[in-house]
Amino acid sequence: MIRKLILCTAAALGLGAGAGLAQDHAAHPHVNDFSFSFEGPFGSFDQSQLQRGLQVYTEVCAACHGLKFVAFRNLHDVGGPALSEEQMRAYAAQFEFEDPATGETRPGTPPDHFPPSGLENAPDLSLMAKARAGFHGPAGLGINQILRGMGGPEYIASFVTGFTGEEREEAGVVLYENTAKGAFVAMNPVLSDDLVTYEDGTQATEEQMAQDVAAFLMWTAEPKMMARKQAGLTAVLFLVVLTVLLYFTNKKIWSTQKGAKKKHA
Ligand code: HEC
Repeated sequence: MIRKLILCTAAALGLGAGAGLAQDHAAHPHVNDFSFSFEGPFGSFDQSQLQRGLQVYTEVCAACHGLKFVAFRNLHDVGGPALSEEQMRAYAAQFEFEDPATGETRPGTPPDHFPPSGLENAPDLSLMAKARAGFHGPAGLGINQILRGMGGPEYIASFVTGFTGEEREEAGVVLYENTAKGAFVAMNPVLSDDLVTYEDGTQATEEQMAQDVAAFLMWTAEPKMMARKQAGLTAVLFLVVLTVLLYFTNKKIWSTQKGAKKKHA
């Protein structure tokens, strides 16, 4: 928190210094490097964190943002939030869907998808963690993603905690300054400490909720990340073994020739 305050102050001062040039522009985009459990070749999603993130999405973000590419049944997947079958069915049943044939409403079932965004200008969040994965870093080169493993989840967590409190009105719409976007955006700050109550007893600080929902959105954008990493590791191991075998096979095949050469010399 203190670090963020210092960063914000620094950004504000920097802005002040360059005021002549960029009076109405927000500070340069700044994304914090959070450390997530799923980073690195051996990293994996933290099931409790995904469940907490689902809770934050449901109680806070879903008021405006949709998740239309995610089916309820996936909440039961191993490697994801892994709700029990009953919990997943109960979650789906909170939503209402209209049956196109009869026009009647019915409760949601496992194959149904989360609803799309309720607020027109709020983007769907299903793939946001991938959409915002690599555009930041010096001059937008994505260097930070390669060197420090920073990507979409860091951006999302920084975005929802990155409001400076500055507001301004443009064409009748109030915009809020955001340091992660480096601009004024139409989303207002929504997180505040203890906004939700976590069942697992985790303290719901603003930063905690931001990281939990960012991890959850990473899962919605790449639900098969664990399987992909595992397949990658298996392939690397296989190639290492194959290389060693080929090296010795090669030596063995040519060993007679090499010996023969030496005799002539
Ligand atoms: C009151 C409605 C509302 C709520 C609640 C809300 N948002 Fe937003 N959000 C918006 C709007 C509107 C935009 C579009 C802002 C723009 O492009 O100027 C947006 C944009 C975003 C973006 C895209 C930023 C970008 O780079 O373009 C992300 C990520 C996001 N919201 C995440 C969240 C998360 C996570 C939550 C829950 C903690 C949340 N939002 C809650 C209205 C909302």
